[in-house]
Amino acid sequence: MSTQSLYKVPGDIAANALINNEQYKKMYQESIVNPDGFWREQGKRIDWIKPYTKIKQTSFDDKDLSINWFYDGTLNASANCLDRHLADGSDKIAIIWEGDDARDQRTLTYGQLHDQVCRFANVLRSQGVCRGDVVTIYMPMVPETAVAMLACARIGAIHSVVFGGFSPDSIASRVNDGQSRVIITADEGVRGGRSIPLKHNVDLALEHPDVQCVEKVIVLKRTGSDIYWVEGRDIWWHSLMELASEHCPPEEMGAEDPLFLLYTSGSTGNPKGVLHTTGGYLVYAAMSHEYVFDYKPGEVYWCTADVGWITGHSYMVYGPFANGATVLMHEGVPNYPSPARLGEMIDRHKVNILYTAPTLVRALMAEGKEHFEEYDGSSLRIMGSVGEPINPEAWRWYHEVIGHEHCPIVDTWWQTETGGILITPLPGATDTKPGSATRPFFGVKPALVDNQGNILEGANEGNLVLLDSWPGQMRTIYGDHDRFVLTYFKTFRGMYFTGDGARRDEDGYYWITGRVDDVINVSGHRLGTAEVESALVAHEKVAEAAVVGYPHDIKGQGIYAYVTLIHDTEPSEELRQELRQWVRKEIGALATPDLIQWASGLPKTRSGKIMRRFLRKIAANEVTNLGDASTLADPAVIDTLIESRLNRS
Ligand code: PRX
Repeated sequence: MSTQSLYKVPGDIAANALINNEQYKKMYQESIVNPDGFWREQGKRIDWIKPYTKIKQTSFDDKDLSINWFYDGTLNASANCLDRHLADGSDKIAIIWEGDDARDQRTLTYGQLHDQVCRFANVLRSQGVCRGDVVTIYMPMVPETAVAMLACARIGAIHSVVFGGFSPDSIASRVNDGQSRVIITADEGVRGGRSIPLKHNVDLALEHPDVQCVEKVIVLKRTGSDIYWVEGRDIWWHSLMELASEHCPPEEMGAEDPLFLLYTSGSTGNPKGVLHTTGGYLVYAAMSHEYVFDYKPGEVYWCTADVGWITGHSYMVYGPFANGATVLMHEGVPNYPSPARLGEMIDRHKVNILYTAPTLVRALMAEGKEHFEEYDGSSLRIMGSVGEPINPEAWRWYHEVIGHEHCPIVDTWWQTETGGILITPLPGATDTKPGSATRPFFGVKPALVDNQGNILEGANEGNLVLLDSWPGQMRTIYGDHDRFVLTYFKTFRGMYFTGDGARRDEDGYYWITGRVDDVINVSGHRLGTAEVESALVAHEKVAEAAVVGYPHDIKGQGIYAYVTLIHDTEPSEELRQELRQWVRKEIGALATPDLIQWASGLPKTRSGKIMRRFLRKIAANEVTNLGDASTLADPAVIDTLIESRLNRS
């Protein structure tokens, strides 16, 4: 193994870890050579109502696609996350909650969480929610959000969590796609000292003429502020809970019955409703949570992701609760009111495992390490990173300043679609290299292919694909199975295409280089450039728009928009601000363009296709080597764009 920048597994971690390097190699080999045997054993980590006898029935052939795991077994996800832990003592802490204001503290034991979930499951039933119905959850980071999710799982309803930062329009399209009759929300959320008008956003979404399906809105009182109220439609969470029974036997679900929907952006069209099912997902979330974070009973685990993203689903709710973990949940952001907050929270709650995103690390790094002078950090053992490539400088800062050089970092690569972590170090097994997600997790068969789909061997760079199924894999795009097949299985026949590019080094370690499609990753939030473009062109003064990502010091990628205005419209700073606000209103704050360049024309082929590679290079200030422009209808457009490009340094 090349020793350049290699961080060895600390001896004490290797000695006590659930998986050491020898075990990793042996288990990985077994998982690939004998998947049925491997998963037959791993499936036993959760409780089944009717045990499975069938393990894996999968094919990535686009003509005969099938993904089935543990498919004759039955179970209930909420019973696995709650009921089965009660035997060891219902007093075990499930959630430690800290408000945006650190003076707000709550804890919920597994017994209390179970009680709340059962009551809320009965509430949902009382509102007519049945097995198989989609329930939309638009909530802040409070324990009730986990309660709502697990209550859906208890009665076999499919939850669809919409991130609290999304706009009314985004809520409307998701609610409509799932034909949700019930929305669960809160009066307001609180984040970074500001309140977020969640109920107001739901009200606006429901004014949308296309949204006819919603009958009930259940509202949690979080701040108590004045809100608009529709009699007959809106109901308070607390008044329903007071009447509800705490007795609710879990629904017996098939392993392949849907558990949840979660919308994510692709290269084209509207966000896709990624559908995950029950058995395989839960086995995979629980197993990866335990092994990747080397989770030991009693440890305090903190994942800073919002529950509105897949990380919040798999590694704040399902994985940890299936393992009976104690989860720290934070309502706000870990660098508010000051960058010291992260360290204060680790010390205050004696956090053992921290899972966060590179964008936070870079933001803290920019503020300076002096904010961590008082930080003790002695409880911390393992640190994770997720959502985007972590640059080696940020990795080292995280290792030194937060991990005090003794905590292994697990840089975990995965996607909404994958349900769980696929490429990652294991703390006790894998020597790490800053910036590399290292090796595949159990059962995962990654490969690199060229643009024709030929498999590349050895140290190489190419498109990252997966050659075989794993239990946590998404099963379909809700309501559009053809799009599922087309998006993931047609680019390279017989393989799942991730949309990412990657490099494999001489040690077999993977280095994710980023998206190779028209998806960008802004502060770990995934966005389709097409979504931002269609928001821009919906503005009356915009004739055309092209959006690309560009390197951004804190966010990883920023949003760079080229905008052509309609005839006779003068560009102005005011209009630029107006367009930024417009996109924010259409999609949500995370989609606000960082930079808008006025463009009298865009580089197009003769058939009218926008050539984004030129736009990406201009946005990145890489204008010396633009490549062949001869296929453009009007090559002179490029010079004009370069002349007027924005100086972003
Ligand atoms: O480009 C990869 C990047 O995030 C994408 C998936 O985004 P999303 O579905 O929102 O899920 C994020 C949380 C799992 C991937 O296609 N990505 C995620 N983790 C990493 C990463 N890129 C590099 N390194 C990672 N560790």
